[in-house]
Amino acid sequence: MKTKITEMLGIEHPIIQGGMHFVGYAELASAVSNAGGLGIITGLTQGTPEKLANEIAKCNDMTNKPFGVNMTFLPTVSAPDYPGLFQAIIDGGVKVVETAGNNPAKWMPMLKDAGIKVIHKCTSVRHSLKAQSIGCDAVSVDGFECGGHPGEDDVPNFILLPRAADELEIPFVASGGMADARSLVGALAMGAEGMNMGTRFIATQEAPVHQKVKEAIVAASELDTRLVMRPLRNTERVMTNEAVERLLEKERKLGADLKFEDIIDEVAGVYPRIMLEGDMDAGAWSCGMVAGLIDNIPTVQELIDSIMQEADSLINQRLTSLYSA
Ligand SMILES: Cc1cc2nc3c(=O)[nH]c(=O)nc-3n(C[C@H](O)[C@H](O)[C@H](O)COP(=O)(O)O)c2cc1C
Repeated sequence: MKTKITEMLGIEHPIIQGGMHFVGYAELASAVSNAGGLGIITGLTQGTPEKLANEIAKCNDMTNKPFGVNMTFLPTVSAPDYPGLFQAIIDGGVKVVETAGNNPAKWMPMLKDAGIKVIHKCTSVRHSLKAQSIGCDAVSVDGFECGGHPGEDDVPNFILLPRAADELEIPFVASGGMADARSLVGALAMGAEGMNMGTRFIATQEAPVHQKVKEAIVAASELDTRLVMRPLRNTERVMTNEAVERLLEKERKLGADLKFEDIIDEVAGVYPRIMLEGDMDAGAWSCGMVAGLIDNIPTVQELIDSIMQEADSLINQRLTSLYSA
């Protein structure tokens, strides 16, 4: 399949793996790229420019196809060395950067000078237009159903994607709630040039996370995510567990008085314990409502191949047959 995104990024299939904290390592990114999509290493998980440079080098050893690096700008307990991390991306020869969390304007000149394509992930039409105006090459439009940070507008993709299509001139991919060929074909119908998946890629053989995380996604239904940190205007969609229910109880009790320090035990530094050690009640971890559509743990190649084959029959058989009666 050829779309503006496959052409822009030099990839075979219009499928991107979104950056994911403590998930987006070289193992997953290279598997997605080798299967014809665009894999993405998560910059902040590496933490230092040296470690990121090593992870990029490792990914370069594992694939000769294009891959990207995610750079997230979010309120963090201690600010990362952003200039050093961006330099590591440029020095590593990476050709695509996914930015998220905040406007990447400050970094655009250095990325453009290095010939890097910038895909900004955002949750609203106005932020997408802003990204377009500062020179981003594409946007990843992340609907309310997404795992991670859906923003504060709560607009689901059935509305957000056609709205983005009406307003944007640069290409966009659909993100949030994407799992299979139906997601891809629906996203294309609404004007997207491809799709970005997070949660779906965690439940794959190559995702270098604890087996319990993958099994939790398979076991979950679409009713098993919760929105946390809304009172702090830092809303995150996470898989429910004991820590999340405790956190929500604090939110209910403290109301407008809630401060980050009140919930630090449930959110700060919990990713390594969950993703690497499989301590499933350690805290809040991002997960999309799309968990309800995930019931297997295939290889990345099997996943992407099945999406592309089923998209073909969905378009060329089911949809076409509606006209031939
Ligand atoms: C466990 C997990 C961690 C994530 N970490 C990040 C992150 O560090 N930076 C970022 O921009 N997005 C992050 N995301 C969001 C994904 O890149 C992607 O936008 C989102 O998962 C799409 O929604 P979906 O899960 O319904 O596919 C994360 C998502 C998950 C599930």
